[in-house]
Amino acid sequence: MSVHRDSPGDSGAKIQRVSIPELMRRKGGQPIVCLTAYTAPMAAALDPHVDLLLVGDSLGMVIYGFDSTLPVTLEMMVAHGAAVVRGSKRACIVVDLPFGSYQESPAQAFASAARVIKETGASAVKLEGGREMADTVRHLAERGIPVMGHVGLTPQSVNMLGGYKARGKASDEATSIMADAIAIAEAGAFSLVVEGVMEQLALAITARVSVPVIGIGASAGCDGQVLVVDDMLGLFSGFKPRFVRRYADLAKEIASAAHQYAEDVRARRFPGPENVFGALKKSS
Ligand code: KIV
Repeated sequence: MSVHRDSPGDSGAKIQRVSIPELMRRKGGQPIVCLTAYTAPMAAALDPHVDLLLVGDSLGMVIYGFDSTLPVTLEMMVAHGAAVVRGSKRACIVVDLPFGSYQESPAQAFASAARVIKETGASAVKLEGGREMADTVRHLAERGIPVMGHVGLTPQSVNMLGGYKARGKASDEATSIMADAIAIAEAGAFSLVVEGVMEQLALAITARVSVPVIGIGASAGCDGQVLVVDDMLGLFSGFKPRFVRRYADLAKEIASAAHQYAEDVRARRFPGPENVFGALKKSS
């Protein structure tokens, strides 16, 4: 475990977070548990149970209601990244670099990543892409910014990929994704998300690269797993990919609570005497 500042500007209490080297040592060992988080209260609820919280640009879809991750801005990622750092104590925090904030050049990526690290207190950034991003990953890693790669189904390339379909079915595509994974790992990424690929390919990548592979829609044989928390909790009902397992149905719970509240307000059952100051005795 490393000593990590709780949040930028916090000069006092030092809090131990799961460190990047600690995660790297987990390659081939106990699976690394990751979930996305976007807000301080959700981060606080998840923090005791996970090794890593990813502030994913999936927030564009599950929080902001966009139909892809493409409109997400660096400002959004910084605001949500800082909230997740404030809400958590122990998990390693990784923040996604959004579309357009890093693809232009390694220098652009460094400026974006440095802003994320400075303004959120997160430990690392994640970026999508394969061989074409290897120089950028190397540039960041050599300058002290830990990078998580993301290959396979890369949502920021949805227009090129033609949708959110599983990848690596055809052998030439599988070979290309494997080459991407190797290039990003060898460029210095500390870990790799492999999303939406055939299980055989996920296992082959996990065996081939020396850094932990975090699967989503990949295989239980990866070095860890990540899910979008809103999917896992049944909060996002837009669509449910095959690789999501719902551990709760919170959208249903919320609807039921809102219905009960509305009925209580309409029937003047809320607020009750316990909810008001200097409650008057009701004459029956
Ligand atoms: O944006 C995100 O939440 C992600 C995960 C799905 C890996 O990239």
